[in-house]
Amino acid sequence: KEYHVAIVGATGAVGQKIIHLLEQDQELQFYIKKITLLSSKRSAGKVIKFKGKEVTIQETTELSFEGVDIAFFSAGGEVSKRFAKSAVDGGSVVIDNTSHFRMSKDVPLVVPEVNAHKLREHSGIISVPNCSALQMVTALNPIKKAFGLERIIVSTYQAVSGSGMNAINELMNQSEAMLKGEDITAEILPAKNDKKHFPIAFNVLPQVDVFTENDYTFEEQKMINETKKIMGMPDLKMSATCVRVPVVSSHSESVYIEVEQDVTVGEIKKVLEAAPGVVLQDNPTQQMYPTPLTSAGKKETFVGRIRKDLDLPRGFHLWIVSDNLLKGAAWNSVQIAETMIKLDLL
Ligand code: A2P
Repeated sequence: KEYHVAIVGATGAVGQKIIHLLEQDQELQFYIKKITLLSSKRSAGKVIKFKGKEVTIQETTELSFEGVDIAFFSAGGEVSKRFAKSAVDGGSVVIDNTSHFRMSKDVPLVVPEVNAHKLREHSGIISVPNCSALQMVTALNPIKKAFGLERIIVSTYQAVSGSGMNAINELMNQSEAMLKGEDITAEILPAKNDKKHFPIAFNVLPQVDVFTENDYTFEEQKMINETKKIMGMPDLKMSATCVRVPVVSSHSESVYIEVEQDVTVGEIKKVLEAAPGVVLQDNPTQQMYPTPLTSAGKKETFVGRIRKDLDLPRGFHLWIVSDNLLKGAAWNSVQIAETMIKLDLL
């Protein structure tokens, strides 16, 4: 079968990566007969080349989804809220990268390596988890399956691309200005819709998204709620601190876990070596561990620095890195489409 694919947010950081994967990925498991590229009015009329053919970007409307089999949404929660239902009514399956539907009961929140079976329960919309939760569960779910999992405490080091193209430009412009000794301005980070903005160049911001009532940010709360939903563990003990760092691509995470069984570092490494989508990069004597620069552009989730807690016998520390635009968004979206086709759901 051949598929008509639409990309809402085609000019955005994630949309561009989805287009790239659909065009360049030699291992892509399905054939595209037509691609519809959608944006806001601002970019409508621009032309993008897809597989040698020119495709004109169109403004997203309720009527954009006629004949579309798969619609990838990554244009922000408001756009998904406004148009996802029209796409579903028009017969499309929506794969949504925004947080808008993630916690809805009838919407599967899927990482194919972890809970592909949930795709069978879909009613038109499938949500892609928050990038920070996504890479973490990819690495932790195999450990949970093998040894049980009681608790997670995570601190993130998140790339600016998670906030979109404008945030990437902000980091670049501020860095250049800093090096030239010029004044710098901040308009996007830490959160576009918050009152104050702070420089990210040569800085670290302990705020990703706006604050909620309990003094955790939405990003932290999303990470916690979504991890519990994806792993099917409503009672998991978990807290998170989400931090923005001056990195373009790939989120890093320092993760502390407590497992249920007595287990060695060697046994954990063995499980991760066999885990789908995970690459173990852990050898202190060789200074081998994942970093954002070495992980950017790759589809896998990389894990290193695995070591025993010094006090708690079932406590372990890990360092988890993955490209937030690929596994954290675009690749997980394309992988969902491939898995649905494999399961005969599309
Ligand atoms: P546009 O280029 O027209 O602004 P990013 O996450 O990198 O900031 O990208 C956001 C994406 O969402 C862009 O492709 C942007 O298109 C798109 N977008 C923003 N607002 C809307 C809207 N109201 N309707 C459709 N697409 C939108």
